[in-house]
Amino acid sequence: MTGSPTPVSAELRAAAARLTASGIDSARRDAEWLLAHVLGIDVGRLVLVDRIDDAPTRAFRAAVDLRAQRIPLQHIVGTAAFGPVELAVGPGVFIPRPETEHLLEWAVERLGAASGPATAADFCSGSGALAIGIAAMSPGTRVMAVEADEDALVWLRRNVADAATPVGSRVEVIAADVTDPTQMAQLIPAGSVSVLVTNPPYVPLDAVVGPEVAHDPARAVFGGVDGMSVIAPMVPVIARTLAPGGVVGIEHDDTTAEHVVACLRAHGDFEEVTRHTDLTDRPRFVTARRRQPGSAGRGMAG
Ligand SMILES: C[S@@+](CC[C@H](N)C(=O)[O-])C[C@H]1O[C@@H](n2cnc3c(N)ncnc32)[C@H](O)[C@@H]1O
Repeated sequence: MTGSPTPVSAELRAAAARLTASGIDSARRDAEWLLAHVLGIDVGRLVLVDRIDDAPTRAFRAAVDLRAQRIPLQHIVGTAAFGPVELAVGPGVFIPRPETEHLLEWAVERLGAASGPATAADFCSGSGALAIGIAAMSPGTRVMAVEADEDALVWLRRNVADAATPVGSRVEVIAADVTDPTQMAQLIPAGSVSVLVTNPPYVPLDAVVGPEVAHDPARAVFGGVDGMSVIAPMVPVIARTLAPGGVVGIEHDDTTAEHVVACLRAHGDFEEVTRHTDLTDRPRFVTARRRQPGSAGRGMAG
């Protein structure tokens, strides 16, 4: 292709039509993000661009080709936004989802209610979205980011290293299996954490998922036939890790809130077991408090 610069409006229209034809709901938005990425500008500045030259036009069309094959937008641009942070992502690590920001907000609120600098933990940390988000939004909090998968750990370590100082320096990466009580006991002192979040693999094996999800590692997404294969064995480890009075938030599949509630109540060390829904009223995460010695009764709300 040679000649005069291409009008941006026509390129975006054609790209959005192509992406819509590929079944992508957010076609126009994705097209804009891809063009902003190719031009190296914030998406908000696209309105200032009328025309683009040959080279960026070719690069943009190549990026649209990839997206039309249902490669996730975040893999094409190489980053994912999560709360106030931007994380490097790509093959081998789960792409953080906007709905998990509810759990981030809950954790930051709980940490804000603490009397002094607190220790938090993010079990099944993946890219480090929750751990780095908490460190960024809760100054002074130290966060242990626990992840088992070697490929995910590469991305996690990179994101922690790239996080602005002092955020990154308050995140400790721990390579461990959160369902292995012996290994976890060797690495994390009992009762050392006041706020623990986890977005574990929880999708039931027979669930129908979109084409983009195939680009997330299966180990990050699926939680066995009932979606509980990591959550259930993780609950005793969570109980041991939390300080008395400490709180946990567990994200789950929208079909498994009752299982998570039952698991926490059956353990016996938790009270204030509470369901939380997202903005579309879908069950999203369950929170609970580790009992203080001497406290009685099993609260249930939500
Ligand atoms: C759904 S992803 C969540 C990643 C990140 N917390 C987020 O919200 O974007 C789940 C993560 O748990 C990790 N994982 C799976 N089983 C694990 C286990 N037994 N112990 C530690 N991490 C595990 C996966 O490798 C994956 O990175």
